[in-house]
Amino acid sequence: MIRSLTFIAILTLSAPALAEEKSVDPYTQSNANAGAKPFADDRLLVEFHGPAGVSKIIDEMLDDCVKDPRTADIFKATDMERLRRTLKEQIVYILGGKIDYTGRDMKAVHKDQGVQQIDFNILVEYLQIAMDHEHVPFRAQNRLLAKLAPMQRDVVVR
Ligand code: HEM
Repeated sequence: MIRSLTFIAILTLSAPALAEEKSVDPYTQSNANAGAKPFADDRLLVEFHGPAGVSKIIDEMLDDCVKDPRTADIFKATDMERLRRTLKEQIVYILGGKIDYTGRDMKAVHKDQGVQQIDFNILVEYLQIAMDHEHVPFRAQNRLLAKLAPMQRDVVVR
């Protein structure tokens, strides 16, 4: 199961990478940049319906954030191709998908975004709605949210 999910992960996550992404300043690539330790196996990823399920959830969540007038401005200058790819990678990695996270660390990437606590809460609400739409069991949703919650201190500006 792990091997087949890893294969699907590579297919699913590399496809959007073919779209144009803007280059970013050099940084050291490391799974530590994901900001959370991954689950030891892929049981939780299976409850999210694999990388394809994660991809749908992240797309819906980001579409909602970009459309919502309360958060739209934050994403005005964002390379959405890159954000979609790296965020999907990060979530699959955390859910035990045995892939590498290739994005930047949470503190560095959010430091100039001006994200407030209310914005964080809005994003999490959209994430919960998208997970509901994907029929991710409530207990599995909460296990992911518990991994994301501590990242507030690196994402939200004070
Ligand atoms: C736990 C919650 C969050 C996680 C896991 C997360 C994850 C990420 C990731 C993986 C990236 C891209 C990394 C890269 O380009 O190398 C990113 C960028 C970004 N995030 Fe978040 N994020 C979170 C919360 C938020 C919130 C609440 C907002 C605003 C509502 C936000 C706004 C942004 C923006 C605007 C960028 C693009 C920055 C740029 O253009 O350089 N993020 N985030």
